[in-house]
Amino acid sequence: MPPPMDPTFEDLFSGRCILVNGPVIVGAGPSGLAVGAGLKQQGVPFVILERARCIASLWQNRTYDRLKLHLPKQFCELPYHPFPKDFPEYPTKHQFIDYLESYARKFEINPRFHESVQSAKFDETCGLWRVKTLSNDNSTIEYICRWLVVATGENAEKVVPEFEGLQEFSGNVLHACDYKSGEAYQGKSVLVVGCGNSGMEVSLDLCHHNAIPSMVVRSSVHVLPREIFGKSTFEFAVKLMKWLPIWVVDKTLVAAARLILGNVEKYGLKRPSTGPLQLKNTEGKTPVLDIGALKKIRSGKIKIVPGIKKFSTGKVELVNGEIHEIDSVILATGYCSNVPSWLKENEFFSRDGFPKSPFPNGWKGKSGIYAVGFTRRGLSGASLDAIRVAQDISKKWQKEMVCNKKCKSHF
Ligand SMILES: Cc1cc2nc3c(=O)[nH]c(=O)nc-3n(C[C@H](O)[C@H](O)[C@H](O)COP(=O)(O)OP(=O)(O)OC[C@H]3O[C@@H](n4cnc5c(N)ncnc54)[C@H](O)[C@@H]3O)c2cc1C
Ligand SMILES: NC(=O)c1ccc[n+]([C@@H]2O[C@H](COP(=O)([O-])OP(=O)(O)OC[C@H]3O[C@@H](n4cnc5c(N)ncnc54)[C@H](OP(=O)(O)O)[C@@H]3O)[C@@H](O)[C@H]2O)c1
Repeated sequence: MPPPMDPTFEDLFSGRCILVNGPVIVGAGPSGLAVGAGLKQQGVPFVILERARCIASLWQNRTYDRLKLHLPKQFCELPYHPFPKDFPEYPTKHQFIDYLESYARKFEINPRFHESVQSAKFDETCGLWRVKTLSNDNSTIEYICRWLVVATGENAEKVVPEFEGLQEFSGNVLHACDYKSGEAYQGKSVLVVGCGNSGMEVSLDLCHHNAIPSMVVRSSVHVLPREIFGKSTFEFAVKLMKWLPIWVVDKTLVAAARLILGNVEKYGLKRPSTGPLQLKNTEGKTPVLDIGALKKIRSGKIKIVPGIKKFSTGKVELVNGEIHEIDSVILATGYCSNVPSWLKENEFFSRDGFPKSPFPNGWKGKSGIYAVGFTRRGLSGASLDAIRVAQDISKKWQKEMVCNKKCKSHF
């Protein structure tokens, strides 16, 4: 992190301090792009700061080749621009990236790439946000703006837990965000740590490439079929939620899952006592939507193992005392928000990097700060946030413009 800097006359004239007319949006993922599109439509200028060298860097750089959206396409579109008609029900990541590229082109959104936000602080004396970035060439810029939109995502950083002995393990260790395909793992024994959607899908991909995966399930997990009676499980749940309380919907989902998938507990996939939707709301734990891993678990192609005790050279010892020889480890251990590392504010965001007010109220704070994409409701939640945020900022920006014009005409 660069040392704290105050804008000086020198900064102003060397271009290191930029006064932004309109909001600064941090992050050029789907959330940041959707806010940008809304603002563009209302004629509001803005700056998007992105640490990577492309839009949607999570999708372009940190996902595996075989990834497909796991919710039907109508729940993944961004506002004001539908998916092409010929997209399948579950678009591939490449189709989704093409769509996002065309989205940015359509709304003429040009983020400032390679600008990683290091700090953002509200300056009470002038009533403006001061946002400091670090570029690839180590240069720093300070942006000064009236509104700040946080769109850095729920999955900004990988979570890498510490394990005893992992330093001595001689094989390849990788986080799921760096895994592309199982091609290099043919015939190898791979320990996949974690049984969320990433752990399940990486294990499945390893099977497709004739590797021998074992998946660590240290606690419990809700596995649901991707479709229930021909309808997407997500859509089914959304419809039920309109009429029924969440606990009834949860019971229905679990009963349907048992009917369709059978008893998964006998394979080592213990179900949590809290229902899948309730668990997502309270702990942010996403249920797994099965796209084929369960079949491989049933057939023994994916082996389920309990938690890890420690690693040693070429081996892992599990909490049940078993010792397995393994060639590689893939950490499908999840992601976290990075907001606490750069946002100097503790009223709107909590220490876990999510807004303190739960959905649907976590999109707007005081002093011109907004959050988009922290609803734990995927792309559909991000789109809802983006529409609200763009409308709110547009109203305020237009009011200020009218006010500025009036002030100027007095002189
Ligand atoms: C493997 C995987 C698959 C997923 N599949 C689905 C799915 O099928 N459907 C669904 O609804 N959701 C899915 N999600 C959730 C997904 O994260 C979101 O739906 C979507 O990407 C959220 O968009 P976002 O713009 O909020 O965040 P992101 O896509 O994470 O974008 C945030 C952007 O902010 C940038 N950034 C972060 N920190 C800084 C900083 N300090 N300075 C500057 N820039 C910064 C990042 O580089 C990134 O480009 C998936 C997530 C993962 C990990
Ligand atoms: N096709 C798709 O659309 C797709 C694919 C992949 C991911 N995603 C999305 O991406 C997001 C992240 O998913 P994810 O699967 O990467 O992360 P995740 O849902 O957070 O799952 C992390 C997993 O790692 C386990 N874990 C963490 N620390 C561990 C440790 N020390 N030892 C053993 N296990 C440990 C967790 O177990 P505990 O539960 O015991 O903590 C959990 O099973 C989700 O929203 C998901 O839906 C979507």
